[in-house]
Formats: sequence, structure tokens, C-alpha cells
Amino acid sequence: MADRPRGGRQLSKVEIVPSILSADITKLGEQVKEAARAGADRIQIDVMDGHFVPNLTFGPMVVEAVRRVTELPIEAHLMIDNPELFIEAFAKAGATLIEVQVESTTSLYRTVMRIKELGAKAGVAINPATPVETLREILPFITTVNVMTVEPGFGGQKFIASSPDKIRRVRAMSADVEIEVDGGIDAKTAPLVVKAGATVLVAGSSVFGHKQGIGAGIRAIRSAVV
Ligand code: DX5
Repeated sequence: MADRPRGGRQLSKVEIVPSILSADITKLGEQVKEAARAGADRIQIDVMDGHFVPNLTFGPMVVEAVRRVTELPIEAHLMIDNPELFIEAFAKAGATLIEVQVESTTSLYRTVMRIKELGAKAGVAINPATPVETLREILPFITTVNVMTVEPGFGGQKFIASSPDKIRRVRAMSADVEIEVDGGIDAKTAPLVVKAGATVLVAGSSVFGHKQGIGAGIRAIRSAVV
């Protein structure tokens, strides 16, 4: 993760984080390597339990598998109920950053502190209808806020147009926290979110589903925000 000036606006470059939900799972290792070669800054594993979101995806063993094929930081985005039950498994599997949904636990502070005790960075993701005010007390303890720019659960959804305003309101609450966005991010929407203050862009279908391939998908986003 790029260093940040103490107390000042983040000057870190825009980071592109392909999320594997839209990857070809039969070729996951190759596709992760291809994304890394094409300049991906991190890889995100979209973890879903079929309860917090109406979809069921990956567990710690997929983090372990991806850890074996790349040196890139790995984010485990836990879109699951009771994430505290699984953070140890994801940390042990090699997640660099573990993100929990602010809506998913009644003990967010304890969960965030446990993530850090386990040696991972802690992030909090916030759904589209959840007010930014719910982040206020946890902000000083986390590295990253993931502003969901779709309702989580599936790849390929439409970017929620009001998201840039929400990003600006998170930035107004903290000059230091890294702002990530997740959902519907492509060459068209990337400039909107970066202008609003996001520096970490999760992209699934616009990378793994790009007609000219993974590298073209990453390059299209990168050139849209330089
Ligand atoms: C939650 C998933 C998606 C995914 C990005 O629904 O976690 O947000 O990462 O999917 P795309 O980039 O295809 O919208």
C-alpha cells in the first residue's frame, strides 16, 4: 500500500484492484498472473456467504491459492454475516487487508482490532444505502473505507450515479483514510470516483470481462485516470 503523508490528502497514485468474482475460475491462477503482469496493484477476493448477500462464493482456501501465484497484496472483502468468526482463517490464508461490512457486525471495533492483531490491515466497506456517519468512530482505526458503488452480491452491475457525492462526504470526514470503490468501475466511471477522492478502484467485469483481455481492461482504466 502506498505511504500517505501524515494528516494530509493522500498523494498515492490510483491503484487498480481486479476482483476475481468475474474471473474464469477454471483458469484463476493464470488470470491472476496476467492481471499482475498488466499492472494490477492488488487482487480482491469477493467473499460472500449467501446470507449477507444473495450469493455464495469463495473461502480462505481461495486466498491461499491466490497467495501461491502472486506477490501482490490480497484483499479479502468479507460480504458475510458475523465476519469475526472468519477473520483468523482469512488472515492465516494470507490476506494482506481484510474488509468487513459496517452492517455485518455489532462489534466492529473488536473485529477491526482483531484483524490488526492478526497482522493484516483493516478496512470497512459501506453499502449504498448506509449513511457515512456510521463510519465516524471507526475511521481512526482503519486503513481503508470501501464505498460500495453497487449493492454487493454480483459482478457486472450498474454504477450508482450518486456515489461520487458519497465519496466526497467520506473524504470530508477523514483526510487520511484510503478510499476504495467497488462496483461498476470501468474507464467511464473511474474518472468520476477519482475526482471525488477515491484512490483504490476495484474492478471485476471491466477487467476479467474485457473484450480485448485482462491487460486491455486494466490499461483502459489506468489511462482514464492519469
Ligand atoms: C460485490 C462484488 C463486486 C465486484 C466488482 O458485488 O464484490 O462489486 O467486486 O464487480 P464489477 O466490477 O463487475 O461491478
